[in-house]
Amino acid sequence: MLARTFGLAFFTASAFGGATHAASVPASAPTVNGTALAGWADVQKAWLAVQMLPDSGVWDRLAEMTDTFGPRKIGSAGYANSLKWLSDQLRADGLNVTNPDVPNIPTWARGPESLTLKSQPNRPNYNIPVLALGSSIPTPKSGITAAVVPVTSLAELNTTDVHGKIVLVNYPWTGYGAASRIRALAAETAQGFGAKAVIIRSATPVSQRTPHTGLSRRANIPAAAISPEDANLLHRLYNRSLIDAHKYPAPVVSLNLASTYRNETTHNLFATLEGHTKPKEIVIIGGHLDSWDVGAGAADDAGNLFAAWESIRLIQKAGIKLKRSIRLTGWADEESGSSGAAEYTKYVQSETKKPDGERHVFAIEADFGIAAPTGFGVATDNEAGVKALPLFQAAGAADPFINAKGWGAVQGGDYAEVDVSFLDDIGVPVAAPTTAMTSDRYFAFHHSQGDTVDVVKRDELFANAQAIAFWAIVASELDVAWI
Ligand SMILES: *[C@@H]1O[C@H](CO)[C@@H](O)[C@H](O)[C@H]1NC(C)=O
Ligand SMILES: *[C@@H]1O[C@H](CO)[C@@H](O)[C@H](O)[C@H]1NC(C)=O
Ligand SMILES: *[C@@H]1O[C@H](CO)[C@@H](O)[C@H](O)[C@H]1NC(C)=O
Ligand SMILES: *[C@@H]1O[C@H](CO)[C@@H](O)[C@H](O)[C@H]1NC(C)=O
Ligand SMILES: *[C@@H]1O[C@H](CO)[C@@H](O)[C@H](O)[C@H]1NC(C)=O
Repeated sequence: MLARTFGLAFFTASAFGGATHAASVPASAPTVNGTALAGWADVQKAWLAVQMLPDSGVWDRLAEMTDTFGPRKIGSAGYANSLKWLSDQLRADGLNVTNPDVPNIPTWARGPESLTLKSQPNRPNYNIPVLALGSSIPTPKSGITAAVVPVTSLAELNTTDVHGKIVLVNYPWTGYGAASRIRALAAETAQGFGAKAVIIRSATPVSQRTPHTGLSRRANIPAAAISPEDANLLHRLYNRSLIDAHKYPAPVVSLNLASTYRNETTHNLFATLEGHTKPKEIVIIGGHLDSWDVGAGAADDAGNLFAAWESIRLIQKAGIKLKRSIRLTGWADEESGSSGAAEYTKYVQSETKKPDGERHVFAIEADFGIAAPTGFGVATDNEAGVKALPLFQAAGAADPFINAKGWGAVQGGDYAEVDVSFLDDIGVPVAAPTTAMTSDRYFAFHHSQGDTVDVVKRDELFANAQAIAFWAIVASELDVAWI
């Protein structure tokens, strides 16, 4: 994820536990500006039926897909096979599944890679775990062998002689926003100063010597990430060499990266549960289907996609018909350019021009791993979001079950995750469920070999499915013009 919402995540101690499968008493309709919420009785009717239902095994399905097909880098067999498996499952659930084309997008695939420390006589040919950054060019087959020069920021490149060297950007962690900016721009910036390659400290505050990948703008020099521990090691070796280069040889490394880069057509995944009285009004829920090519992309972002899938299953099993259509979205290519969301937004715009076209009235996306729910964040950077916020606040505050769980806090702010931010930009109200996820917990595994189903907890995954079901029912059943 690119975590457009990160930083505003609402961290409260959630009243997780105290779960009850007994139906709560329906609340009387909450009011906004002295007017009762129209359609609240329909929200309650649907939600009372949904809230009592047990987990249908969502964690096991997440484990099955990620164990069977592995990570889902856009353009890979893992993506294509997961897309097919999930589409088949959703069709078997009775949903209307489509896989529209996302044409001609760049797809990058990792090849064999290594980083070897060459200069330390007592640690000959010491191998440092390394991951190329996405869209990096490969090195020549013989690799690039050069002295390492550390900097702590991209600005420091202006005052450091990096010509012919491998630049190490060993910045202090101040948050994901700053780190991901360095990751995106390091190669392009260092190439301007004549560097041969760039290596960055991985974007994480917590590490057990694991590198984390992520997107780099494609430049004319290769770009890779190493663990924070190894970035500090190379930096210390360099520092000591400044004291006595004879006694402490300056670090020289040999970098070998292979990769392919070509344009291909890929596909989004949509699965629609048709609405009863307003089928052309679409409420989107979901996450992105693609992932990085290491780990299994279980938390980023299959977990959120599967939580939303489970929400739809709950609604189906409750035997209720919602007014509006609920569309599960598995966006393609969030990690490498968001072309899936951009392509869909063109469709949304063309539908809006048709008199009988689909109207996208609300879009929910979660992309910050799976943790205990705390509430809902409505993006208030468009007019429809500002209008929707008090309605969701009233709904969250009024529902007994949601309140008993501690999931009812609704805030406004920058809550548009990357894919739905395209819809936000054209005026669709968008939102993200909020959770107790923290930076230390999430970025420890994010974009690394550590993102496997083990980092997703069963109870938290199902709790997210329940919470998303509630917010989707509010979006579907309230008799308001969202847009
Ligand atoms: C409530 O009243 C305020 C002030 O008149 C107005 O701006 C807002 O749109 C109203 N909200 C709703 C949901 O009607
Ligand atoms: C399924 O969805 C597509 C695209 O929204 C639509 O064209 C088609 O008519 C739907 N099919 C059914 C059986 O509802
Ligand atoms: C590859 O895809 C990008 C983005 O869609 C496009 O700008 C570029 O022209 C494409 N290249 C080729 C060779 O088709
Ligand atoms: C480096 O200096 C150039 C010109 O002096 C300036 O345009 C650029 O923004 C600086 N780069 C950084 C990363 O500070
Ligand atoms: C390297 O030396 C600089 C300048 O003394 C210092 O600020 C920095 O903390 C040192 N880095 C490491 C990793 O020891």
